[in-house]
Amino acid sequence: MANSVSPSATSYPCGSTERTKLTHHPLRPFGRVVEAAGGGARIEDVPVPMLVRWTEESRVLVLRGFDLLGRQAFADYCRGWGEILKWEPGEVVDLVVQDDPKNYLFASGDVPFHWDGAFVEANPRYFFFQCLDATPGAGGQTVFSDTTRAYRDADQETRDRWSRVSITYSTDKVVHYGGEVTERLVAQHPATGLPVLRFAEPLAPEKYKNPVFAQVHGVDESEVDGFLGSLSELVHRPEYCYDHDWRAGDIVIADNFSLIHGRNAFTGPTKRHLQRVEVI
Ligand SMILES: [Fe+2]
Repeated sequence: MANSVSPSATSYPCGSTERTKLTHHPLRPFGRVVEAAGGGARIEDVPVPMLVRWTEESRVLVLRGFDLLGRQAFADYCRGWGEILKWEPGEVVDLVVQDDPKNYLFASGDVPFHWDGAFVEANPRYFFFQCLDATPGAGGQTVFSDTTRAYRDADQETRDRWSRVSITYSTDKVVHYGGEVTERLVAQHPATGLPVLRFAEPLAPEKYKNPVFAQVHGVDESEVDGFLGSLSELVHRPEYCYDHDWRAGDIVIADNFSLIHGRNAFTGPTKRHLQRVEVI
């Protein structure tokens, strides 16, 4: 599928006189990498409105050649974008695979599609990751699905059906989130106004630790399983999904409204360490 980003270069002032060259590479089917020539660039030196625009255009923005930030500096930087969602572990959440996890997020299996912040008051607008360490070739790609594209391609009958659906999600609070929430399937992006799908795949209790259950409203009881199955199949289609293979040093900014995301299973031992901050 076409991507609106063509390979191109921009530069921004770095210090008083120097300019750092940034090269843009489109990702498929969406997303972009912005690479700083020579490395050692500072994210703080790129104007936030520029990064916001690139993130909104591309949904997933990967910055390479930029210095990672210390834990507190990372949170402070993200505060420049908006209020930070505070989780129990703090503003910065460490994502690492654990040996004996209480929740599937910290296990080595796959993580089905969801959006972040379903079980808290405010849905984050953006999430920020920085990758402190990675094991290339060991799976664990973060998979982003662009629901604005899935909606755009749906026929009117399907859209009408979706518009009548809401889903109640529930999960026990074992780690940093839990509770019950009901969301309409179709929502509006707060910045672009485009329709988005707020869909989290239900998790089978026999497969996932600390599963999420979904109760569907607006669909006949006998059709619920088929409805959820076809929605899952749709958002997994390759034309809507970008798989991000992490490299140490990546900084990734993603749009938590247009996208839902999940993770492929790890295929071997991994030392991957991501830090995540979410901005409302
Ligand atoms: Fe997530």
